Amino acid sequence: MAVKIAPSILAADLARLADDVSRVAGGVDLLHLDVMDGHFVPNLSFGMPVIAALRATTDLYFDCHLMVTNPISLFAPLKAAGANLVTVHIEVHPQPVLAASAARDLGLDFGLVLNPATPFEAVAPFMELCDLLLVMSVNPGFGGQAFIPGVLAKVEAARKLVERAGLRADIEIDGGVTPETARLARSAGANVFVAGTAIFGSPDPVAAVERLRAAVDGTQ
Ligand code: DX5
Ligand code: ZN
Repeated sequence: MAVKIAPSILAADLARLADDVSRVAGGVDLLHLDVMDGHFVPNLSFGMPVIAALRATTDLYFDCHLMVTNPISLFAPLKAAGANLVTVHIEVHPQPVLAASAARDLGLDFGLVLNPATPFEAVAPFMELCDLLLVMSVNPGFGGQAFIPGVLAKVEAARKLVERAGLRADIEIDGGVTPETARLARSAGANVFVAGTAIFGSPDPVAAVERLRAAVDGTQ
């Protein structure tokens, strides 16, 4: 499956968001947008007004990672703001069939997210509902944390199921992604690589994107 690089704008300069995004836009495949509610995770980030403002500046695909307690109520306003895909934590909706159909009815792509402590078995029965499975490699809520290598076994299990059952789901890894950890995740079967600090924390974000892509291209 095609390798995709997904900068997380959480680590961008939010006062110069459009500039930071346009600088890297030519080299990336999608944008990862971390929506937090201060309840599911102990932090707040940004929501519809920021996403809509950014949508007016770019045509990139918006992957909205919903770290919120009531994700379904946000689908319609997120769609109106320009979201393309919403991902819902399985910890919030352990039976996500209704969430998936609510997203589809609005024309949104749909994915599920697993926290580091949540086993792959929690999402396995629902993989065919997914355009994407997001495997968290840090506990959600904050950028700049260290990659947890123990989650790689879940990436392997997800890739096996996707291949065996002929499913369409991309497998995304998020948290502590650097060229080194991206290579490990790629070998385990991930094909979408979210990076905040490694891209926007770098003095040269364009070169940082190239380093990430070089680390995962050609690795299987
Ligand atoms: C964490 C978010 C991540 C975060 C990644 O809750 O889901 O997307 O922005 O940041 P880095 O790449 O700095 O670990
Ligand atoms: Zn995220």
